Amino acid sequence: MNQTIRKYLSNLENLFSFSPADAQGAAARFHEEMKRGLNGQTSSLRMLPSYVGRPTGKEQGRFLALDLGGTNLRVLAVRLDGRGKAEISAVNRLAVPETVMRGPGEELFDFLAEGVAVFLEEHRLDPKEHRDLAFTFSFPVAQSAVNAGVLLNWTKGFTAPGVAGQNVVALLSDALRRKRIEAVSVTALVNDTVGTLATKSYADPSCDMGVILGTGTNACYPEKNSRPAKGLSPQPRQEMILNLEWGNFDKLDTNACDQALDRITLNPGRQRMEKMVSGMYIGELVRLILLDMTDRGILLEKKHRSVLVREHAVSSEQMSLTVPGEDFFAAIGIPDASDQDRDAAHHVCRIVSRRSARIAGAALAAVVTWMDANLEKKHTIAIDGALFEKYPGYPENVRCVLEELFARRAERIALCTTSDGSGIGAAIIAAVASSRQEQEHKPARQRTRKNR
Ligand code: BGC
Repeated sequence: MNQTIRKYLSNLENLFSFSPADAQGAAARFHEEMKRGLNGQTSSLRMLPSYVGRPTGKEQGRFLALDLGGTNLRVLAVRLDGRGKAEISAVNRLAVPETVMRGPGEELFDFLAEGVAVFLEEHRLDPKEHRDLAFTFSFPVAQSAVNAGVLLNWTKGFTAPGVAGQNVVALLSDALRRKRIEAVSVTALVNDTVGTLATKSYADPSCDMGVILGTGTNACYPEKNSRPAKGLSPQPRQEMILNLEWGNFDKLDTNACDQALDRITLNPGRQRMEKMVSGMYIGELVRLILLDMTDRGILLEKKHRSVLVREHAVSSEQMSLTVPGEDFFAAIGIPDASDQDRDAAHHVCRIVSRRSARIAGAALAAVVTWMDANLEKKHTIAIDGALFEKYPGYPENVRCVLEELFARRAERIALCTTSDGSGIGAAIIAAVASSRQEQEHKPARQRTRKNR
C-alpha cells in the first residue's frame, strides 16, 4: 500500500476512533438523556412506554403477526404452548416496494392488509374465524395503550405521507375492513425490540434487554415503576418495557463523514446514532469515504466514480466481503479494482464497522448499568439483526467495550442472538395483553383472592 493511502487511512482511523474514555463519556450522557426522557423533558432518547411487562412463559394461544420493519413485510401464524415454547406454523414474506414506502400512507396500509388477505387465503384460514393480530411496527410510536399508538416520525427510508401523527392501529384496522377482513382484530402494537425481549424472556427470566442491530438500531428494557415516569402503568411495583429509540441518541461526537451522510439522508438531524451504527447507514459511510479517496486520486480510477455516486451502492453485507478470498469491489459493480484498492477498502470497512460495534457496546453498557449500577446480577441481552449476527467480528467488538468498561464483571452480561422477535415475540406480547385483559375483567373479589 502506498504512503498516501496509508496516511489517509491513519487519519481516518483517528476520525473514527471511539476510545474506552469515549465509551465511558457516551454512557454517562446516555444516562442523562434517559433521565430527561423519563421525566418528560426534551431528550433525544424518547423512552416510549409499551404498556406491557415481560411475559411469564405461561402465555398461550394462536396468533397472527404482521411485521413491518424495513424493506420486507412478513405475515406469520404463531402458536405459543404456555410452557416457554413457541413455533411459527406459516409465514409469507414480501418485499415492500420503494413506491409503497414513500407513496401515500393509505396505500401502504392497503398493502399491509392485502398481505394479510393473501396469507389467509394461501394458508386456507377461515376468514370468518376470529383471530388476534399482533402488529410489529418498528418505528418510533407514542403508545397510549398496548393496541394504540401514534407514529412520531418515519425512519429507515420510509416517508409515506399522512401517517405521522396518526394511530397506526386504527389505520391498519381501517385497511383490513376495506379488504372485508372483519374477523381479524389488531390486539397488540409491538416494536421489534420489545418483541425480541419478549421472545428470549418467554423462556429465560434473566433476559432484561432487547436490542436490534440490523437495518436500524434500537433497544428496550423493563423499567421499574419506582422512577417517576410519564405514561407508566398505574399498578405499583409493576415493570413496564420501555422502548428507548436509541437510534436517535444525539450526544455522540460526529465527524465530517457523519455530517456529510446526515445531509443526504431523508431525515437530516434525526437518528444520529443510527447513522453511525446501523446496517442501512454504515455502507453509506464507506461509500462516501471511497468516493472521497477516488476524487483525491488515491483509489480506483475516475471512471469508477459513477458507481460510487449512487446512493446505497455499498451495503453492510457487501462490507463484510472485504476479507481475503471475497471480492468486495466486484460485488458493488467494479470488477477491475487493484489489489491495493481492495486492501484499502478492507481497512475502511474495518474502521467503520468497528466504530459501529463500539458505539453499540457503549449504549448497551449504559442501559445495563441504568438497571444495575454495579452489575450485581446476571443480564441476558437478546439481540436480533444481521449486523450483529452476520458481520464478521462484530459481536467481539461489542464485547471488547464491555470488557474495557467492566473488566471481569463483563462476564455477567450475556449477549444472545435471538431471532424472530418481530414474529414470535409480537405474538407473545399479544398473549400478554389478552391475559391481562382477562385478568382486568375478572370480578374484583376473584382477582384479590388470586393475587394473595
Ligand atoms: C426505529 C426503531 C426500530 C429500529 C430497529 C429504528 O429506525 O426507529 O423503532 O426498533 O429501527 O428496527
